[in-house]
Amino acid sequence: MPAPLRIAIGSDHAGLLLRAEIYRTLLARGVEVNDLGPFSSESVDYPDYAAKVCDEVVGGRASLGVLVCGTGLGMSIAANKRHGIRAVLCHTEFEARMGRAHNDANVLCLGERVVGLGVGISILNAFLDSAFEGGRHQRRVDKLAALDAAR
Ligand code: RB5
Repeated sequence: MPAPLRIAIGSDHAGLLLRAEIYRTLLARGVEVNDLGPFSSESVDYPDYAAKVCDEVVGGRASLGVLVCGTGLGMSIAANKRHGIRAVLCHTEFEARMGRAHNDANVLCLGERVVGLGVGISILNAFLDSAFEGGRHQRRVDKLAALDAAR
């Protein structure tokens, strides 16, 4: 699958190193990257950056989003509060492939303190190299959209 045209990325202070590696990896893959920060090591609040990235995805200005915090937990909770976002927290390449293939995930969340840089990038690549399978999964994703609309 060709890489998506534009990907928005963001982190908190605990995800800076992995985000920098993600930025380099995406550029090397020919992806246009919208890096939404933060741009210093000062402590910040992960919901603020989850909102910035998710707004790019929901607004159609990014095909996908990638969010990094210490565990990935806070980012995934925050991202899934935005209408239209299907964020998956992944620790393995398998989860990343399934997140795209079955859940049509549009945001990948990673925990730098959990997976580290090397595994984090392998998960990112698995996510980008996978595509939604549709079929029976489309029906389920439609039901997710119905749950989202009923909130
Ligand atoms: C920051 O210390 C840490 O709480 C945050 O990066 C994240 O892991 C929260 O879910």
